[in-house]
Amino acid sequence: TGCFTYDPGFTATAACKSAITYIDGDAGVLLYRGYPIEQLANQSSFLEVAYLLMNGELPNKTQFDAFDHEVAHHTMMHEAFKNFLGGFRHDAHPMAMMVGMVGSMASFYHNTLDLEDPEQRRLAAIRLIAKVPTIAAACHRYSIGWPVRFPRNNLEYVDRFLHMMFEVPSEPLELPPVAAKALDLLFILHADHEQNASTSTVRLVGSTGANPYACVAAGVAALWGPAHGGANEAVLKMLAEIGDVKNVQSAVDKAKDKESGFRLMGFGHRVYKNFDPRAKIIREMCHQVLNELGVNDPLLDVAMKLEEAALKDDYFVQRKLYPNVDFYSGIIYKALKIPTEMFTVMFAIARTAGWVAHWLEQQEDPEAKIGRPRQIYTGYDKREYVGVDKR
Ligand code: CMC
Repeated sequence: TGCFTYDPGFTATAACKSAITYIDGDAGVLLYRGYPIEQLANQSSFLEVAYLLMNGELPNKTQFDAFDHEVAHHTMMHEAFKNFLGGFRHDAHPMAMMVGMVGSMASFYHNTLDLEDPEQRRLAAIRLIAKVPTIAAACHRYSIGWPVRFPRNNLEYVDRFLHMMFEVPSEPLELPPVAAKALDLLFILHADHEQNASTSTVRLVGSTGANPYACVAAGVAALWGPAHGGANEAVLKMLAEIGDVKNVQSAVDKAKDKESGFRLMGFGHRVYKNFDPRAKIIREMCHQVLNELGVNDPLLDVAMKLEEAALKDDYFVQRKLYPNVDFYSGIIYKALKIPTEMFTVMFAIARTAGWVAHWLEQQEDPEAKIGRPRQIYTGYDKREYVGVDKR
């Protein structure tokens, strides 16, 4: 036994102090380093946000150019990564590949990494921000049997990623401007969210002094689950299964029935109990993207009807369940021709900025300790061993 506070899921436990992200779940407020998410979504870029999260302040032009240049400089993958890639089954889920590939970075940079040196730590963070998109695009191309593309370092971060994903030799890639804009916005909105499950995982692993690439690989693993980042993939699968607005009400009814084991994916949030400010922004962008691309996706109608039906329903109202960040993101990704299995990988690319910012903050925190939760023991009292012939 022991005298500990029992807090499964850490709903009431602050495990660290952090100056990175602020959430007021009742008021639907999200701030990165004090800046409202709405302003960043409208006026900033993902790379600038990554700088902000890591460094605490928005960069001036010189600082941003230097950061941009440094990230571009580190986008290449070591050629030996391709051997890793080649070891995966052709139909491996890209998140499975991501866990392995990001983790393998530890083997490429381990010996040169001195965690006591702030410059080395910063470089590890930059490498992660730079290489995760390259690795992600490589995982996608491997899964469809295409050769990996070099990063085009003359392009901006998001454009560079889209080229690595979709470019074919000797065929210029024509991207509608709204594609990079929408992706940049999605990356900004997903960049950080204080002590969510994956960031807490990065911190827990980081608290042991483990290699930062291994810490982030653990974050990728935690993100994969459908209760967390895997929700964006699950939402699209759910919408496709519902298939038609006429089936929406029965899906809502099923989600209310605990026996069914079915939840409305993209609905509800541990912290937001009023609305998810990111969902509002994404919903608007979703309409803009489909309009500009001239895409008529019946799944958007299903999503809107589902939102409407759930928000009218007492079950969802009483439990304060609202659409979260992932309810509409999948429809945008689909319109951008990102395959469904890649949705959570997209989240991982964006969240890498948050993970490294938290890892850096933790490494500098004089109060940081090894993470070591306790438990309420529910097993046997002490008992005597019984030989196998007496059992
Ligand atoms: N559909 C139906 N019922 C739900 C849902 C849902 N999506 N979410 C919560 N509930 C019910 C739940 O059954 C419980 O009911 P009761 O009080 O009668 O037992 C009540 O609402 C509270 O739920 P909880 O599971 O105790 O809440 P939580 O804070 O532990 O879980 C959540 C939060 C996000 C895991 C959960 O709402 C969920 O599973 N949502 C669907 C998955 C999803 O969209 N996840 C993405 C989260 S946002 C992206 C990210 O940052 O990862």
